[in-house]
Amino acid sequence: DGLNARAQAAGKKYFGTEISTQVMGDANANNIAKNSQDFGQYTCENEMKFDATEPSRGSFNYANADKIVAQAQANGQLMRCHALVWHSQVPSWVSNGKFDNATLISIMKNHIANVVGHYKGKCYAWDVVNEALNEDGTYRALNLIKMVKSYGAPIHGFGMQGHMTAGQVGSASQYVSNMQAFANLGVEVAFTELDIATPSSSPNFAQQATDYATIVSACKQVSACVGITTWGFTDKYTWISNSAPLIWDTSLQKKAAYNAILNAWGSG
Ligand code: G3I
Repeated sequence: DGLNARAQAAGKKYFGTEISTQVMGDANANNIAKNSQDFGQYTCENEMKFDATEPSRGSFNYANADKIVAQAQANGQLMRCHALVWHSQVPSWVSNGKFDNATLISIMKNHIANVVGHYKGKCYAWDVVNEALNEDGTYRALNLIKMVKSYGAPIHGFGMQGHMTAGQVGSASQYVSNMQAFANLGVEVAFTELDIATPSSSPNFAQQATDYATIVSACKQVSACVGITTWGFTDKYTWISNSAPLIWDTSLQKKAAYNAILNAWGSG
């Protein structure tokens, strides 16, 4: 039994987590990550990004990401691979390079061909264009996907990050109708980077547990929602300062969110 076992019993492909080589170096934390009852899928936190994989032009480094992929394969876990085109964590040789548009496009194509080629057959999904939409809503997602499809380009899925705040998650129904609108375009949907912030100094873990259950219940209700990935699993390793947004605490003990997620998936 576990987070992933319950997700699969509910018809999903996986419940997964972001992981890093830093977490893999912490044996106790890594034991949690290796348990495929809880996690059926990994996303590399930083190891597959442009700055990590092509630190200088034409010179590719897959050493860290390969360690994560090897661990996933050893435990029968899927990889969601992250990310090919993104505005952040672009190496300085690109961002400071003063290249013209045509050269930048060829740099991007060469990068994508190398990275996707290296991981051919090993990624369940790729985050191809990460964070294409601005926080202020410029671009309407739905319309962007229609536009890309109208040009004949394949688009298979739509990922929602979900860096949320406890108490502000709202009800499942709004996520259900949003996901259903994407599902109606014939694309898969997934929560790709879920965490639910609550301040470490005065945490509200009961509210956080309720909010995790809300997201799980929304995904459960939409057949096109293939899975949920949390952006890490323990508060010991989170990208959010002074926050306790994850499912295991800093001492690697399960928090209230764990059972709330199990219950929200139900028993199949
Ligand atoms: O590796 C360098 C190290 O050499 C240097 O000494 C140190 C000093 O700042 O920085 C290190 O790089 C940091 C890197 O993480 C690796 O630890 C960067 O500063 C830091 O900005 C970077 O943060 C990552 C962030 O993406 C960058 O935008 C977080 O770990 C990572 O969790 C976060 O993940 C993103 C997703 O990829 C996309 N969606 C949002 C999500 C949260 O921001």
